[in-house]
Amino acid sequence: MDPFNIDTFRSAAPYIYAHQGRVFVVTISRATAESGKLSELVQDLALLHTLGIKLVLVYAAGIELAEGPNCVDAARMQSLQSEIAAQRTQLESLFSAGLINTPMAGMKLRVVSGNFIHAKPAGIIDGVDSQHYGEVRRVDSDAIQAQLSANNIVLLSPTAYSPSGEYFYIDALNVAVAVATSMPADKLIFMMDEKTLQASRGQRLKHLNLNQAQNLLQRRKSISSIVRRYINLAIDTCLSHVPRVHLLSTTVRGALLHELFSHAGCGTLISADDYDDIRPATIEDVGGIMSLIKPSQESGSLVSRSEEQIERDIHSYDVIERDGFVIACATLQQINDSVYAEVACFAVHPDFQKEGHGSRLIKHVEQKAQAQGLQHILVLTTKALHWFHEQGYQTQAIKKLPIAKQKAYNYQRNSRILIKSIV
Ligand SMILES: CC(C)(COP(=O)(O)OP(=O)(O)OC[C@H]1O[C@@H](n2cnc3c(N)ncnc32)[C@H](O)[C@@H]1OP(=O)(O)O)[C@@H](O)C(=O)NCCC(=O)NCCS
Repeated sequence: MDPFNIDTFRSAAPYIYAHQGRVFVVTISRATAESGKLSELVQDLALLHTLGIKLVLVYAAGIELAEGPNCVDAARMQSLQSEIAAQRTQLESLFSAGLINTPMAGMKLRVVSGNFIHAKPAGIIDGVDSQHYGEVRRVDSDAIQAQLSANNIVLLSPTAYSPSGEYFYIDALNVAVAVATSMPADKLIFMMDEKTLQASRGQRLKHLNLNQAQNLLQRRKSISSIVRRYINLAIDTCLSHVPRVHLLSTTVRGALLHELFSHAGCGTLISADDYDDIRPATIEDVGGIMSLIKPSQESGSLVSRSEEQIERDIHSYDVIERDGFVIACATLQQINDSVYAEVACFAVHPDFQKEGHGSRLIKHVEQKAQAQGLQHILVLTTKALHWFHEQGYQTQAIKKLPIAKQKAYNYQRNSRILIKSIV
């Protein structure tokens, strides 16, 4: 069987376009750096680079994240220095090897490191002198930007110098956050060794806005301290104008590619906005609406509509968009000059169903109808009767429809008639 999946490739195309020229800061954990997973991760990163994504990579070394004050004495600093040097060499050599056994094997990737981060001592914390344990004082984001513009991948270690020439170890996650917020980057991607975040029912938590992320931290006491830290850092990063932070698990093979180039993704996105806000459709959405509703039209859940029809009525449509994709749509059309309107062409993409988009969209449409002075909303459905019941719609007889709708009723289709009063 041909393993090449044309549909997957086609559906990735808009993401490839959307990510081009964007700056992504990606962390590489110590466990990944020390495992066999590193070469596969480097291949995926090299692929992102060839697709035009500007990469800043921050690798961790040495100290595992610890609770309370950290201290790095001179002896520890010395062993960290050799550990960090070894990791840098390993990463540089993997990038230099290119994509072995692929047509991109001969491709030259330039990876640069440098004194882009300026450090300051963490000082005395709770009476403990942190010694060589430092904090980010300043990020030379212009210099990083210049390297990215020159098509180089920027590789940052968890170390930096102070203006007086002292050498400090800085937690890699803090380096990543400082770089992402100072640029600011388009995305910060934490590659965690922990498992993907799950909702209580065992499903993956795909997206959290900042309130939801904070609530999760308060509600879910079972979240480990490391994952807690990732979520807290993600919240802080979003508040500092980095639009999106992704928490990906290195336990998922190809997690980076899966998250960045597929509808469904495989990690958790934390963002300051609601990410996929509802908005009125524009003529540019016609293609997206057509491909969204095609499967429902083919299965008979939705009445067939031509592209011309949708184009003509586009002002009456609302859509939910994610990363440039229309993932849900609905049209609200007033029936003649009556107080009735019909909601139709109501669909949520299968990859995004059961996440509350349908309920949000129907509420939005109802509010829009109310604002227009309409009093009753009707829906004709063959498959979603119970779903609309749960939204407060009641089954009605044909005679309850406005006359124009009664005349147009398709007896062969035999749709259920549902009406909700919104006064
Ligand atoms: C009906 C539809 C819009 C719901 O979208 P959604 O974003 O999944 O809806 P929500 O997330 O708000 O609600 C999900 C809940 O409704 C339930 N549900 C979804 N479709 C349902 C249906 N046809 N009948 C009964 N319940 C349904 C889900 O099981 C889920 O309940 P659960 O969490 O208890 O399991 C979506 O399934 C769809 O696009 N269907 C195909 C097109 C269609 O039939 N449109 C309506 C014609 S006008």
